[in-house]
Amino acid sequence: MEKTINRLTGLLAGAALLGLVTPAAHAADTLKVGLMLPATGTYAKLGNAITNGFKLYVDENGGKIGGVAVEYAVVDDESDPAKATENANKLVKRDEVDVLVGTVHSGVAMAMAKVARGTKTLMIVPNAGADELTGPLCAPNIFRTSFTNWQPSYAMGPVLLDKGVKKVVTLTWKYSAGLQAIEGFKESFTAGGGEIVKELTLPFPNTEFQPYLTEIASLKPDAVFVFFAGGGAVKLAKDYAAAGLKDSIPLYGSGFLTDGTLDAMGGAGEGLQTTLHYADGLDNAKDKAFRAGYQKAYGMAPDVYAVQGYDAAQLLAAGLSAVSGKVDDRKGMIAAMEAAQIDSPRGTFSMSAAHNPVQDIYLREGKGSANPVVSVAAKALADPARGCRMK
Ligand code: BEZ
Repeated sequence: MEKTINRLTGLLAGAALLGLVTPAAHAADTLKVGLMLPATGTYAKLGNAITNGFKLYVDENGGKIGGVAVEYAVVDDESDPAKATENANKLVKRDEVDVLVGTVHSGVAMAMAKVARGTKTLMIVPNAGADELTGPLCAPNIFRTSFTNWQPSYAMGPVLLDKGVKKVVTLTWKYSAGLQAIEGFKESFTAGGGEIVKELTLPFPNTEFQPYLTEIASLKPDAVFVFFAGGGAVKLAKDYAAAGLKDSIPLYGSGFLTDGTLDAMGGAGEGLQTTLHYADGLDNAKDKAFRAGYQKAYGMAPDVYAVQGYDAAQLLAAGLSAVSGKVDDRKGMIAAMEAAQIDSPRGTFSMSAAHNPVQDIYLREGKGSANPVVSVAAKALADPARGCRMK
């Protein structure tokens, strides 16, 4: 029905060009959402949490977003950039989705964004932090409800300087998320007088950490700063503790290290301090309701990925409500999404001009299964959006 309306709208647009009629947007009877997320591999749990968060919002609203019934088309992207263009095209061209929601891995998301830009499909990024998505690849039809790789890591620089940390070794996977996260940390840490002694990398998603840990032990920095997430984060924290480094060289990271991973770390994450745009025990009503709803629906506590998925649905709702469910009123939807104040479990956030959240970054500390707040490390932090020319 909705596709018929789209085709009709196309005919009307053609007629309008000939001066025959004035096209008007129609309320659609469904919103087709293309969920492109990892269901397998090291980021599978992250993809699942995003799906759960998104569907929680839809289920809480009677199966609708902004009053429009939701239909899903789903692809497992396997966190594999080599398959990303084909997977995104399946959703856009075969399934004719109205909006692409994805993904976790920065490299996959960049390929998706190129498809979204080329086909002018609305896209919401519920995790991938690639700075480019709201930098050189920014576009009116691309929004993000998560973070840039720069944001959480940039906030950690002053935290370590305040602790008197002067020399740091960094360790990450060698792909855009890890490399950009390290750059973000380096920017604020070195600006305040800190020194990066060595930058260590290994290919994604390798987890043979032993040679790197041996090198860290011999370099003896004041601290180590890392970007890892999912299964790789669990293995790193366990190996770091097993190598006897946890008590002698403190380990820090962006919060993906310990979000959704503490149980699997079996104690190796205890006391680890990280920076992220979400934390456990935030004192706001939205978070309390969200956590209760998530626990009831899925029998487990939510993590940052679930929050980002929930907020992707909330952002779409802000757009669709403003245009009374007229999915074809793209201009009206985008204007409303740009102006939205999202009442998120992380705290209210707004969108930057580049379509990325302007948000607080929390310092947290691993305690049991949770990452309770220690302090606000950066208030209303906006990504610099270098290279974004919105047109
Ligand atoms: C990324 O590839 O952008 C990413 C993956 C997992 C957690 C955070 C960022």
